[in-house]
Amino acid sequence: MNKSIKVFAPGSVSNVGCGFDILGFAIDGIGDEMVLSKNDSNKLHIKPIEGYDNLPTEPSKNVAGVAIQALLDDLGSNQGFDIEIKKNIKPGSGIGSSSASAAGAVVAANELLGKPYSREELVNFAMQGEIAASGDAHADNAAPTVLGGFCIVRAYDPLDVIQIESPKDLWCVVIHPQIEIKTKEARKLLSPKVDLKKAIRQWGNVAGLISGLHKSDYNLIGRSLEDHIVEKQRKVLIPEFDNLKQAALEAGALGCSISGSGPSVFALCEGEDKAKAVSSAMNEVFSKTTIPYFIYTSQVSNKGVRILE
Ligand code: HSE
Repeated sequence: MNKSIKVFAPGSVSNVGCGFDILGFAIDGIGDEMVLSKNDSNKLHIKPIEGYDNLPTEPSKNVAGVAIQALLDDLGSNQGFDIEIKKNIKPGSGIGSSSASAAGAVVAANELLGKPYSREELVNFAMQGEIAASGDAHADNAAPTVLGGFCIVRAYDPLDVIQIESPKDLWCVVIHPQIEIKTKEARKLLSPKVDLKKAIRQWGNVAGLISGLHKSDYNLIGRSLEDHIVEKQRKVLIPEFDNLKQAALEAGALGCSISGSGPSVFALCEGEDKAKAVSSAMNEVFSKTTIPYFIYTSQVSNKGVRILE
């Protein structure tokens, strides 16, 4: 059995407009790299994190450490690991930074332990890392990061995740303004009450989106990419949100909304050409601000964490 393994953990877009806390998909353009090695100390040791050195390296405070510990506790193992993280996804970006580290960590640890768990079972442990990051164990980033494609979190207790392959021409544009929004804070903005009429429209959209994904019906996907509950409450945190959305839709995006808790904004598109047009329209809007930003354009990825070597 190998002593060491290197993995790539992709970024992800959660909520996907209408599916707050229950829907997410994996993206291809950006992700974290991690190397996990067994050690003989019975302890987790996180090396200084490449890319973002202000992240905690104490295992009980680090999302990767918390997620691996949850796996080890469930397995009844005291195996120690050295953990190296090369972070490419900025924390507080809205594209699943904490989930990438947590998911990469549990997939890598599981491999080195002889695969005692299935990928589906690993989502449970990856999700525990979110508690360290946002105070809540939501799985809408963790599930697609571990499994790839779109994931529905049908239920949390017990966790029931359904993975759906993405239609082959579904592309995603994500614009990532380089400001930080803490998920914990963005969750505090949300009213705990939902108006019944809005809820009816929202679950209609969730059903429509899932059906559209199954049938590769891009028009139905587009009609369903509407959020009547969360977007309005959170968009105040995102500079140029309304203009970005309008530009994306005018350039032919199927839909556009906040990625996770922001500040990233995503647009789904049919085909690469449309995605490039949407990317350039969003670029045009944001280039007028003084805020640095990145834009990623990629197919929705049907792969979750990948083993590199
Ligand atoms: N569903 C979570 C939220 C995702 O929107 O708070 C956070 O990345």
